[in-house]
Amino acid sequence: MRLSPLTAGHRDAVLAFETANRAYFAASVPDRGDGFFAGYPARHAALLAMQAAGTDRFHLLVTDAGEIAGRFNLTSIAGGEAEVGYRVAEAFAGRGAATDGVRQLCELARSAYGLRRLRADTSPDNHASRAVLLRNDFTFLGESTVDGVPTHRFARNLTS
Ligand SMILES: CC(C)(COP(=O)(O)OP(=O)(O)OC[C@H]1O[C@@H](n2cnc3c(N)ncnc32)[C@H](O)[C@@H]1OP(=O)(O)O)[C@@H](O)C(=O)NCCC(=O)NCCS
Repeated sequence: MRLSPLTAGHRDAVLAFETANRAYFAASVPDRGDGFFAGYPARHAALLAMQAAGTDRFHLLVTDAGEIAGRFNLTSIAGGEAEVGYRVAEAFAGRGAATDGVRQLCELARSAYGLRRLRADTSPDNHASRAVLLRNDFTFLGESTVDGVPTHRFARNLTS
């Protein structure tokens, strides 16, 4: 499977991916809300504009057959750093897709985007996501909060 940068042509496939996995994702991360699904075409255009501006880099993990296994994103890009976010379809769960996607994302971040450090937050009970980050050489920094919600904070240097 390969990470592919998000394009305009991915719009319908991303909406289908999010719709098919909505309940699965909502069990471990906040639900997107009905507005996200109803207004997805505009949302997709906004993502592409953010990508063009260089503040974000969105990717899909695509199988050889063209199926979307997951989404792997770099957001809040500034000062050589970015936030990492990802989600893998239920149909691909537990097969190493997230581990592989984060590995490819780190490589792109370093070699294609010139980033020096990546940050990530997980909910404290998201053990699968924690395993994915630790296996990709992220270090657990400690407990934190995002918008008042408790998180576990991780980071990885890309320069060493
Ligand atoms: C978290 C998520 C990305 C993991 O995707 P995945 O492709 O299944 O992950 P992988 O197969 O690469 O690795 C998961 C690892 O976590 C382990 N794991 C899974 N559930 C676990 C649990 N409850 N406790 C401890 N480890 C667990 C798996 O065993 C696996 O490790 P292993 O290969 O050594 O067995 C996926 O579940 C997902 O998209 N969840 C919803 C969105 C989300 O939580 N995103 C991350 C936000 S920080």
